[in-house]
Amino acid sequence: MNPYQQKRRWKYLLLAFAVVIASGSLLYTSYLVRNISHSERTRAQVWALSIKQVVNTYDSESLSYVSAVRDSLSVPAIITDGKGDIKFVRGLDTTKTYIKLDAEELKEKKWKYDPDYFRNELVYMKGQHEPIHLNVLNESWLVYYKDSALLTQLKMFPYVQLTVIAIFLITAYTAFSSARKSEQNQVWVGLAKETAHQLGTPISSLMAWIELLKDKFNAEDDPLMAEMENDVKRLEIVADRFSKIGSKPQLEEHPVYDVVKDFVDYFKVRVSNKITFELTGNRRLIAGLNIPLFDWVLENLLKNAVNAIEGTGNIKVEISGSRVKKLVFIDVTDTGKGIPRSKFDTVFQPGYTTRKRGWGLGLSLTKRMIQNYHNGQIFVKDSEIGKGTTFRIVLKSIKHDSTTAA
Ligand SMILES: Nc1ncnc2c1ncn2[C@@H]1O[C@H](COP(=O)(O)OP(=O)(O)OP(=O)(O)O)[C@@H](O)[C@H]1O
Ligand SMILES: [Mg+2]
Repeated sequence: MNPYQQKRRWKYLLLAFAVVIASGSLLYTSYLVRNISHSERTRAQVWALSIKQVVNTYDSESLSYVSAVRDSLSVPAIITDGKGDIKFVRGLDTTKTYIKLDAEELKEKKWKYDPDYFRNELVYMKGQHEPIHLNVLNESWLVYYKDSALLTQLKMFPYVQLTVIAIFLITAYTAFSSARKSEQNQVWVGLAKETAHQLGTPISSLMAWIELLKDKFNAEDDPLMAEMENDVKRLEIVADRFSKIGSKPQLEEHPVYDVVKDFVDYFKVRVSNKITFELTGNRRLIAGLNIPLFDWVLENLLKNAVNAIEGTGNIKVEISGSRVKKLVFIDVTDTGKGIPRSKFDTVFQPGYTTRKRGWGLGLSLTKRMIQNYHNGQIFVKDSEIGKGTTFRIVLKSIKHDSTTAA
């Protein structure tokens, strides 16, 4: 299994684990809420019965019983009589029933009673629980109640708990993955630089050997020598690309069209002639480019396009721009096998490949080179299975070079 698949499997496992914890916590709290809710209804019933007792008999023993019950009851409740008028109130904050007094009234220590407070509470209670029926003095009274403060807080508890856990997990995951990414960066930069460094010496020697050979055999114009020189130059370019990784590369202003044209001309003679190439678009757009790295990007995209075509086909590179947004678009379109929509992002993951001999590294390197070194973007713009694919590179345009004709 490649590392990418492994990472996905871990993600799913963690997600499943989180779902189990979250639903366990929700189920347990809802079990607690149900139990407490049941006992609160019983307590409201006990209070109601004690009230009934007092109203029916009105002796001192019942009165003391009622006050004992009232003090032990934490459930806010209201009793209404047959006409719907409030008869008794329990567990509500009576200070809220006073409304603001002016200075004069305050001096006289008058309190004004807010009749709406209990009415509003009653409306709220009616919405929360079914009332308890109580038969008093041959009238049907109703006992309304609402959840105690404890029960209300308990209902909120799983949401607070899950939010805290989610914040913790997101922070931990971000910190962990950015630490891992910077470690990966260091490894890959180190490897690239070391490769460039090690290739440097034999490449310079090869150059010198070629010069010596030319002299010794008087072979200045020999086509074999020219081919050898070409290959060594190519090796030099490869080493140069690797050496550029890690250090902030110099971006120079270049007409994008010309740079792309140079590379396409170089590339197209090296692949099967069943594949045709087309280059169109605006020739005046200028962007900051590092040519060795940008050529590498084009090479990866064109190679992938060739692999996707499998036989005859066409590869089109189109350069366009947005003057308003100051952007350059480079679209590489092939007539290959296409990419399923669900894989538009996945193809950029290191290790993702559908080729037998592929490493799945081309597009992930390409993305790094565009994002990190050219401050641009790359994505699959469009693709259709069996018809073809368009990759789009977006770069910042520096200025429109008016000296080159469109
Ligand atoms: N133009 C394209 N058309 C269809 N599929 C593509 C295209 N470009 C990339 N892909 C898909 O994305 C995968 C990853 O591409 P990437 O260049 O990263 O790796 P690779 O080509 O498989 O291997 P290598 O490391 O040698 O480049 C490919 O295996 C292929 O399935
Ligand atoms: Mg590739």
